Amino acid sequence: VPRIVILISGSGSNMVAIADAIKSGSMEAEIAAVICNRPEAAGLQKARDRDLPASVLDHKEFSSREDFDRALMAEIDEHAPDLVVLAGFMRILTPDFVAHYHGRMLNIHPSLLPKYQGLHTHQRALDDGENEHGVTVHFVTEELDGGPNVIQAVVPVYDGDDAASLQARVQIQEHIIYPIAVKWFVEGRLTMAGNTARLDGNVIPATGLQ
Ligand code: GAR
Repeated sequence: VPRIVILISGSGSNMVAIADAIKSGSMEAEIAAVICNRPEAAGLQKARDRDLPASVLDHKEFSSREDFDRALMAEIDEHAPDLVVLAGFMRILTPDFVAHYHGRMLNIHPSLLPKYQGLHTHQRALDDGENEHGVTVHFVTEELDGGPNVIQAVVPVYDGDDAASLQARVQIQEHIIYPIAVKWFVEGRLTMAGNTARLDGNVIPATGLQ
């Protein structure tokens, strides 16, 4: 059974969506570990409530980004994962870390990448007067929020939206598309070659599957 390690920093709702998809039998995979860099994150309790092995590796206990990433890598690798899933893991990763999980690490980002890399994506989309916004699952490469897209979901922006209402609409889609991408990967259908994502050998366009 393919082994997944999920990294979280916050509420863990995407971790829950993936755990639920596995539990429901829609894909065969095992969550070998949930690792969180913030001891107070609400997602830790959600993991424990679901009997997922959850642990904390607090980045504040490390003097440099390199030291933290080395420790994190060691902890992840104890679980020999086939796939590393970043699910609201709010850390910039060192190049060594990213290279180590080349082709086997996915991230979810709350925008229609390549638009709105970085933080405060919902507010920035509103400020720009976008009438569409969304979310992207992509392979992680050294370029921050820049690896090849796998799947995107688009949502409308309505008059009267604020960042919170838009985020809520986007998150509903996150919980649908992340389990789909993980399922493709654990079934061996989703791969990365060069800087291109492929599904069953077919090139996924730069916009991701929509
Ligand atoms: C999600 O909305 C995800 O898109 C975002 O963090 C949230 C985590 O929610 N990720 C990023 O902003 C990555 N830069 P969750 O902890 O409830 O899954």
